[in-house]
Amino acid sequence: MSRKPKTNKKHLPSHLAIIMDGNGRWAKKKGYVRSIGHKNGVDALREITTACAEIGIKFLTVYAFSTENWNRPKSEVKALMTLLVSSLKKELKTLMKNDVRLSAIGDISLLPAKCRRELLEVMDMTKDNQRMVLSLALSYSSRVEMVQCMKKIGQKLLENQISISDIDEALVRNNLFTFGMPDPDLLIRTGGEQRVSNYLLWQIAYCELYFSEKLWPEFTREDLMIALEDFEQRERRFGKTSEQIAQEEETLP
Ligand code: IPE
Ligand code: IPE
Ligand code: MG
Repeated sequence: MSRKPKTNKKHLPSHLAIIMDGNGRWAKKKGYVRSIGHKNGVDALREITTACAEIGIKFLTVYAFSTENWNRPKSEVKALMTLLVSSLKKELKTLMKNDVRLSAIGDISLLPAKCRRELLEVMDMTKDNQRMVLSLALSYSSRVEMVQCMKKIGQKLLENQISISDIDEALVRNNLFTFGMPDPDLLIRTGGEQRVSNYLLWQIAYCELYFSEKLWPEFTREDLMIALEDFEQRERRFGKTSEQIAQEEETLP
């Protein structure tokens, strides 16, 4: 049975972030090597990307490889990079069909040259797509992102382009990798762990968190709909009272 998504646009996240965790455990459970788990993870990502584009989510940002993941066994890192290269070109058709623009956040310069080339090529080929932006967090660390942001702002100060009083939230936001995107409204982590693993720490300040026990390769469109229905039920108060929120909703057009 496939669930029809509720189309209450007001409560649909405009930016959905996902920590795609559990590939290794999925493979182990099935008696496969870890890389098979990652390969099946790509299939899950295709299904979820298509579903998100169809229901009208504007930004989808997925954690594909963290800075800390460079510390995994060499063979696994190599398998992941090879998978990235082979998947990028293969997925181009689906991205074009769904009118999805591919983007990336993270320290892309650390990726092997071939990966970087393929990535930039697919980003360029999809640059005019309008329906949704799919951002891959690759070699990503939120703390590194913040340090880089501080360096950029420091440089502007040194060059007298700005003064201390110009430093505000908007300036910080504009110097993060996620420049130009709204903050995520909902963060889904699969795989059962309840932590954020250095992901979008500034950006998730007021994000709703959803943890799924499902391992990423088995996370389906149906599971996504259940998470979105859960999100729809939540009252986002942003520090205000429930009564204030109810009043604001009443006055909405
Ligand atoms: C997430 O799955 C994918 C990456 C980190 C690249 P894992 O590989 O972390 O899978 P588990 O957590 O070991 O099951
Ligand atoms: C987070 O998963 C990174 C990705 C999903 C790419 P990890 O499996 O690396 O996170 P930890 O180490 O369990 O926190
Ligand atoms: Mg993991």
